[in-house]
Amino acid sequence: MLEDLRALRERLCAELHAITSLRELEEFRLRHLVRRGTVGQLRERFRQLPAEQKPIVGRELHALEATIRQLYNELRQRLEAQAEEELTVDLSLPGRRAFLGGRHPIQQVLDEIVHIFTRMGFAVAEGPDIEDDEHNFTALNFPPEHPARDMQDTFFITPDRQILLRTHTSPVQIRLMRALKPPIRAIVPGRVYRNEEINPRSLAEFHQVEGLVVDRTTSFAELKGILIAFAQQLYGARTEYRFRPSFFPFTEPSAEMDIRCFLCHGAGCRVCKGNGWLEICGCGMVHPAVLRNGGVDPETYIGFAFGMGIERIVMLRLGLDDIRLLYQNELRLLRQFR
Ligand code: DAH
Repeated sequence: MLEDLRALRERLCAELHAITSLRELEEFRLRHLVRRGTVGQLRERFRQLPAEQKPIVGRELHALEATIRQLYNELRQRLEAQAEEELTVDLSLPGRRAFLGGRHPIQQVLDEIVHIFTRMGFAVAEGPDIEDDEHNFTALNFPPEHPARDMQDTFFITPDRQILLRTHTSPVQIRLMRALKPPIRAIVPGRVYRNEEINPRSLAEFHQVEGLVVDRTTSFAELKGILIAFAQQLYGARTEYRFRPSFFPFTEPSAEMDIRCFLCHGAGCRVCKGNGWLEICGCGMVHPAVLRNGGVDPETYIGFAFGMGIERIVMLRLGLDDIRLLYQNELRLLRQFR
């Protein structure tokens, strides 16, 4: 039996050495260390030995069991520590937050503009992006040879140039006058298209907000008052502004509104191209011919209109120097301006 014990010790030690997982170790325990396992069976045999053999075999058996149990315990501790290390999670690490999305900066500014005008009693209207020459040009009093109809500016859809992508939101003025009876007081946010070279300052597709008021009594003074109130809400109560005479075929008289460059406050900089002012919108009293084209009697009614580009406002706000950034769906940019 002594021989058997020595051989067994060798075998068990070798088995333990080969074990690399807690699962294998548990199998080892169930095979050898439980009452019906190898060691239990040895004890059984030991009990049946003649008395004179017991002391010596007993010592050997005891030593074997102690050695194996010790090796087993050490290995178990090592494997458990290893497993724990693998499972360890560093709870102090910052989590990865899901990006829930947000409104695009252009939409944010549009929403803000719509909000300002709806508080001043304006309704919100829309018109089609695909227009005809009649609404986009003719009814708006553009002479037939006006440069804005040029191939250079307009995306025509049909070869006869009658169907096109609207170049401004002004055609909706005609649609509103034809569809509604005055008084009309509406703004029209929307997308417009121009056949322009794409560069840091211009794209072939951008946004405008149009405004139209038609009533029995209104005035250039009211137009100015509304645009001043608007500018002060969008750009700040102390914003300096000025109106300059200008020309549009569909308004008479026409003007453009500037605000003080909020980057250099008038000193002159890159943004305002050195003159201290930023043009923010075109405006004027609706031309009597345009009222007539809209089915409104210019003897009874008077109107004013205005139109502004949105991308420039967004760029100034965000401090962007390239308009193309707004259309690249660049998440690093969009996440900053949620
Ligand atoms: N439609 C003009 C443009 O695209 C902007 C504009 C100017 C609109 C004067 C108006 C206006 O309603 O009265 O540049």
